[in-house]
Amino acid sequence: MSVLPRSIRTLALKGQRLFLRVDFNVPVKDGVVRDDTRVNEALPTIRYAVEQGARVILASHLGKAKGVPDPKYTLAPVAAKLSEKLGAPVAFASDCVGPVAEQAVAALSDGQVLLLENVRFHAGEEGNDPAFAKGLAALADVYVNDAFGTAHRAHASTAGIAASFAADKRGIGFLMEKELAALTKVLYDIDHPFAAVLGGAKIMGKIAALEALVERADTILIGGGMANHFVVALGLGVGKSLLEPDGVPIARKVIDRCRERKVNLVLPSDFMVAPSLDRASEAKAVPMDSIPPDQAAFDIGPKTLLMFEKMMAPVRTVFWNGPMGVFETKPFNAGTLGVARILASSGAFTVVGGGESVEAINEAGLASKISHVSTGGGASLDYISGKKLPGVEALLS
Ligand code: 3PG
Repeated sequence: MSVLPRSIRTLALKGQRLFLRVDFNVPVKDGVVRDDTRVNEALPTIRYAVEQGARVILASHLGKAKGVPDPKYTLAPVAAKLSEKLGAPVAFASDCVGPVAEQAVAALSDGQVLLLENVRFHAGEEGNDPAFAKGLAALADVYVNDAFGTAHRAHASTAGIAASFAADKRGIGFLMEKELAALTKVLYDIDHPFAAVLGGAKIMGKIAALEALVERADTILIGGGMANHFVVALGLGVGKSLLEPDGVPIARKVIDRCRERKVNLVLPSDFMVAPSLDRASEAKAVPMDSIPPDQAAFDIGPKTLLMFEKMMAPVRTVFWNGPMGVFETKPFNAGTLGVARILASSGAFTVVGGGESVEAINEAGLASKISHVSTGGGASLDYISGKKLPGVEALLS
């Protein structure tokens, strides 16, 4: 069971200054937004607020700004992209608190939109500093959080700020609702058999997810750098492949728990290896117990893909997070694209979260064939691990 905060639909917005936290943490290169998925996903809530006559104040972080202004991480290009999408001007304030922000808000009329500069240009954001949170809250009458991708962060604009608004003056937007509804099906309301596909370079950041999924899944398929730890836990070598030493005991624990719970733990039966990433043209498939000592695994192999397809055939629910190999370097994108195709053609309820798995789905043009493509990597993993999301909890207290 999950209790949700109020929906934006229940809030009075006409003439109100609405602080709308969105996740515009998008890739920007040379001042141009390279992937506008998160902007598109925020549009329904923004358009609704505009139609309701709110004075819309958008706030977000971008990149790994370190608490001081950094032109590399300005949100200005996102304001331009948003304006193009809305077909209306989007004002931009070069600071998110203080006189600059206050003046920009004061200049808004009903139905107009303003984007504040990156909240992470202030250390108070990540520190969830109460004074900074109050500075943000002072700009608005109503607060809505639609930043699902950042809901796992207890920051000032996602958590601390909520305390400054009465219960009928705060809530969540349509994207947050959509994300929570889809992920709740993978958490509380699972249609079995349920398979989790986990990959990505690192195992340490996914321990909680692994532990939680072992208790709920019927099948767990492992790929990416994460698989190397399982191979070593079985007493085999992985050559020069990526390995986090602390990850091996974790893999061993997962193997044991899967045995106890009779969960199908499906490890790659072959890998694509090469001497190094810049010698990708020498890539070849080898069985999982024969990775040469002078080579590294950079992707799952073709036999593994066939096996994954077979194992997923009877499944009714799938959650996928993390690439199966070094997705950005051909031919090591084949495993990840292959998994994207398997999910797209399965009749199961499919949920995909995490940057590169989502990128693979988009690159293969398969997004419309996936039940839910999450805008949150870390947030979706935390949520399906059963962790509370501070960005949601702050609105319930
Ligand atoms: C994301 O891209 O996962 C979210 O925007 C959160 O960003 P963060 O990991 O920098 O907090």
